[in-house]
Amino acid sequence: MKHTIMAVDDVLINLMVLESILEEDYNFISITSAEEALEQMKEDKPDLILLDLYMPGMDGFELIENMNKDEGLRSIPVIFVTGERDAYSEEKGLALGAVDYIKKPYVPGVIRIKIKNHIELKTYRDSLSDAVKERTRLLEEKTNELSATHDAIIMGMSLLSESRDEVTGSHLARIKVLTQLLANKVAKDNPDMLNEEMIEIISTYSPLHDVGKVSVTDAILRKTGSLTAEEFQKMKAHTSGGGDLLRQVESFLPSGSSHLDIAIDIAENHHERFDGSGYPHGKKGDNIPLAARIVSVVDVYDALRSPRPYKPSFSHDEAVDIMLKGDGRTMPEHFDPVVLEAFRKIHPMLNEAYNRAADSEE
Ligand code: C2E
Ligand code: SIN
Ligand code: SIN
Ligand code: FE
Repeated sequence: MKHTIMAVDDVLINLMVLESILEEDYNFISITSAEEALEQMKEDKPDLILLDLYMPGMDGFELIENMNKDEGLRSIPVIFVTGERDAYSEEKGLALGAVDYIKKPYVPGVIRIKIKNHIELKTYRDSLSDAVKERTRLLEEKTNELSATHDAIIMGMSLLSESRDEVTGSHLARIKVLTQLLANKVAKDNPDMLNEEMIEIISTYSPLHDVGKVSVTDAILRKTGSLTAEEFQKMKAHTSGGGDLLRQVESFLPSGSSHLDIAIDIAENHHERFDGSGYPHGKKGDNIPLAARIVSVVDVYDALRSPRPYKPSFSHDEAVDIMLKGDGRTMPEHFDPVVLEAFRKIHPMLNEAYNRAADSEE
């Protein structure tokens, strides 16, 4: 297929000379004013423009300037035509972004070579840019696919670790949504505490908080009565156990290449209490990672709302009362006051989210 050259000159004879030189190898379009050229090139999309600089009305310099302002026209190479001793125009034309110039009087061989070179260059540049675009698109596709797989495997791993606990997929999805809602509220009221990315990471990994229960025996996990002190000791180990398990997962990755440290923070610390009375380490206040302080509130709310082998479910109002006022076992001092305040403000939304997600299970 022939490439298209647009020549712009107010002097008809100049156009005819150029046409005679180029018509054999190119589609040749003659235009006699810059204004018309600017309109016509949007339709014809020439591969190269041959431009006379001095024309009545809009001159060649202005035409280049106008082309530069237009995303679609900017990349069309311009070769301008200049008089033999017009050094000023040469410099100004090139400074505006023209790729080259040819001098009058025309030397057909030089014109053909320059045009051929610049069209080749433009074709190469275009194909490179197309290749980069295609590569970027493929990369995005791959990234989305990997990210979806990553999230699904996290859900699968959570499900697997809690399957004996009769935990369902919708329970895990619920933990995720509740965490997202609560974390969003914490961030909204305390913008310095966590950002969008952190909220995403915390909620993505929240369903893994009890992954350590994989090592807790059925006898304990499914016991209908209260746990003995010894049994509760073993139950408590699901925190450090979960952290260790996820640290092993992390060891398969190059260091610093994932956010699994947040998943580890959550698994290990979600039963720590703000007043230091929690486990496994009795960490206090800000020594407990923020991610765990958030998931801890979600975990207790969800546990209170849900039936367990050892307890019936509580209503939303009962659960909120237990958490905000305390019932002896669960006390407000257990929670980060900032997170609990966010909970106090948005608990009706958590109720809605819980009810919506609860429909598909139990
Ligand atoms: P879980 O059932 O997911 O409960 C998570 C947390 O929610 C509990 O952490 C506790 O802080 C709160 N929670 C759950 N149920 C109640 C409740 O009826 N009243 C109050 N006030 N808070 C409640 P905790 O106590 O560290 O327990 C950790 C895990 O140990 C529980 O996870 C559950 O799997 C197990 N567990 C706790 N108590 C018993 C029990 O009496 N019997 C049995 N079989 N398992 C228990
Ligand atoms: C996410 O999936 O958005 C967070 C997890 C990560 O980036 O490691
Ligand atoms: C984090 O470690 O998850 C955030 C830092 C904090 O505890 O505030
Ligand atoms: Fe737990």
